[in-house]
Amino acid sequence: MRTTTKHRKHLTRAAAVGAVALAAFSLSPAAATARPAATPGGDGEPSATVVGGTRAQQGQFPFMVRLSMGCGGSLLTKDVVLTAAHCVDGSGPDTSITATAGVVDLRDPAAVKVRSTEVVQAPGYDGQGKDWALIKLAKPIDQPTLAIAKDDTYNKGDFTIAGWGADREGGAQQRYLLTAQVPYVDDVTCKSAYPDLVEGEELCAGRMDTGGVDTCQGDSGGPMFRKDDAGQWVQVGIVSWGDGCARPGKPGVYTEVSTFASDIQAAADQLG
Ligand code: ARG
Repeated sequence: MRTTTKHRKHLTRAAAVGAVALAAFSLSPAAATARPAATPGGDGEPSATVVGGTRAQQGQFPFMVRLSMGCGGSLLTKDVVLTAAHCVDGSGPDTSITATAGVVDLRDPAAVKVRSTEVVQAPGYDGQGKDWALIKLAKPIDQPTLAIAKDDTYNKGDFTIAGWGADREGGAQQRYLLTAQVPYVDDVTCKSAYPDLVEGEELCAGRMDTGGVDTCQGDSGGPMFRKDDAGQWVQVGIVSWGDGCARPGKPGVYTEVSTFASDIQAAADQLG
């Protein structure tokens, strides 16, 4: 049963990692457990990866971070991770999060693991839009960082997504980093799928006609990115939410990074 009547703002992040996601619009990180039995298509879809992707090569996306609460993230600086607001509990000192970086295989002994010291959740975050947060790390991670889009120049075209989240609705979290490409979906089209889309703060991507490729539970907080005109990766989105995963007509919704670029930069500068 789709819970399309439920409004996103009534849904908050589950307190416990691994909590059962009963709502199709769940923002819960790693809410990858089985959906209700009546979920259409939940188990019958072709299984691939992110959903519909392939394994990333070691070093291909060196800015990718896995966070211990079951989210993704990206290195904004060597000691600040950009993730989703719904992946964290609020702002302030926080040593509870471990960031894993430098590997595609989370069990690789070469993985670099660093604890958090402080979290900044987007000011005014209430479950609709503004889905960004920063995590300060106890020490720098020696990997390349990912630049964020400063304006809307790159908010179009084909985007790359990556994460260790579920490879299908209700699927398990992944050991290996998965990646796929998703096309931009314009706001008008996306608003028709999701009436409560916050157009200025959210950016949609996915295959409207066929579905089949998408981020999914546990990918939240991770980056959506593309090449800029100089051939450098630039982050345009943060994995936020969607109705199920990879359903036709239901694109993934991403935080529109360019909208918050100056806020994010200012917050990072304040973290020192
Ligand atoms: N909220 C999910 C998480 O916490 C991400 C869901 C993304 N869904 C989608 N259909 N693109 O991991």
